[in-house]
Amino acid sequence: MEPVYLDHAATTPVRPEVLEAMLPFLSAAWGNPSSAHRFGRAARAGFEQAKREVADALGVEPGQVVFTSGGTEADNLAVIGAALAAQARGKAMHVITTKIEHKAVLAAAHAVVRLGGRETLLPVDECGVVDLDALDQALADEPSVVSIMWVNNEVGVVQPMREIARRCRAAGVPLHTDAVQAFGKLPIDLDEVPCILVSISGHKLGAPKGIGALIVRDRTIIEALIHGGGQQFGLRPGTENVAGAVALGRAALIARQELDGHVDRMCTLRDRLAADLKAIVPDLVIHCLEAERAPHVLSVSVPDAEAEAMLMHLDIAGIACSAGSACTTGAVEPSHVLVAMGVARPLALGTLRFSLGHETTDDDIARVGATFGSVVARVRALGAALGRA
Ligand SMILES: Cc1ncc(COP(=O)(O)O)c(C=O)c1O
Repeated sequence: MEPVYLDHAATTPVRPEVLEAMLPFLSAAWGNPSSAHRFGRAARAGFEQAKREVADALGVEPGQVVFTSGGTEADNLAVIGAALAAQARGKAMHVITTKIEHKAVLAAAHAVVRLGGRETLLPVDECGVVDLDALDQALADEPSVVSIMWVNNEVGVVQPMREIARRCRAAGVPLHTDAVQAFGKLPIDLDEVPCILVSISGHKLGAPKGIGALIVRDRTIIEALIHGGGQQFGLRPGTENVAGAVALGRAALIARQELDGHVDRMCTLRDRLAADLKAIVPDLVIHCLEAERAPHVLSVSVPDAEAEAMLMHLDIAGIACSAGSACTTGAVEPSHVLVAMGVARPLALGTLRFSLGHETTDDDIARVGATFGSVVARVRALGAALGRA
C-alpha cells in the first residue's frame, strides 16, 4: 500500500504539470537570460512569463517579483534588507516581528541585532494570534519594518493581516509578511491587505525546492543583501534560475486556478481528521480551534505520549506527518511556537502536525483514523513502562 503523506507544510511533491513546464529550460532553452542572442532570448522569455504568472497570482506587477532561492532567502532579504535601507536613510535599524515566526524571520531579526539594530518580538495569545495592542505600542517606536507571517507553519493560525496592515500603513511603517504557508492555501488580496513585502516558496505548492520569491512593492524600502551584476533590479543579482522560476510561475498559476475548490476540500478533510482523532483519543487537544486556521494544517497534542515515538510508529504504519518539537541539541525541545502560545511543556512534547495537500484523499484521512488509536496506546504504554510521560 502507498504510504500516506500528510506533511505538506514541510514540502510537497512536484506537480507533473510543473515539471513539464520547467523541463524545456533545463534542456532546449538553456541560455543565459541576460544574453542578447536567440539562446538568451528564449530563456528570457520563459523567465518573464514566470514573473507574469507569479504577479498575476498575487495581483501585483511583474516588476515587483524578485525570485530568490526560497522562502528563507526572501525572508532574509525583506527583514535585513529593510533594516539596512532604514540605516542608509539615517534611521535606526529596528525590526518588529512575532514570537511565532519561522526561524528564517527570527534569525534574520537576530542578525539585525548583531549588526547593531534592535528587534521587538510581539507576544501571541493561546491560539497564536498576535497581540495588536503590543503591535500599536511597538509601531510608536518608528521601526524599520514589521514582519508578521500570514499563516503559521506549525499550528496553521491565520493572523489578522488586514488589521495589521491597516495599523502599519497608518504608522507609515513597511509591512513584510511571510506568506509561505498562505500562498495557494488562502485568498491573498494585496489591495485589501497592503503588505509591501511578501515572501513565497515554491516547494510548498508543487514546485521544486530552491526557488521562491519576494514581492517588493516599493523598491526604495529594501537594500540588496548580495552584490553582483544588475539582475533582478540589483536586488537579487546572479544569473537567474530560469527553470525554477518557470516552475514557480506554473505552480502559482495552478494554485490560483484551483484555490476556491481547494480551500473547501482541505477544510472538510482537516475537520474530518480532527473529529476522527478526537473520537479515538478523547483527551486530545486541537490547537487554535478558537482562531482562524489555514485549511491545510492540523496541530494536535496527545497527553502522555511523546511526539517522536508517535511519529516513528506512524511512519512504520505508512503515515508521514511531523512533530511540534525538534531535537536540536541532543534533547527534544518543544517548539518556540507552542511555548509562545503557553502550551505546557509535557503537552507540547506530544504535539503532531498533519498537513494536507491537493492530492490528499478521504482514504488517506480514514487510514490515519484506523491507525492512530493503536499508535497512541502503544506509545503511552511504553512511556508508562519507562516511567515517563
Ligand atoms: C512559514 C515558512 N517560512 C519560511 C520557510 C522557508 O522556506 P524555504 O524552505 O523555501 O527556505 C518555511 C518552510 O518551512 C515556512 O514554512
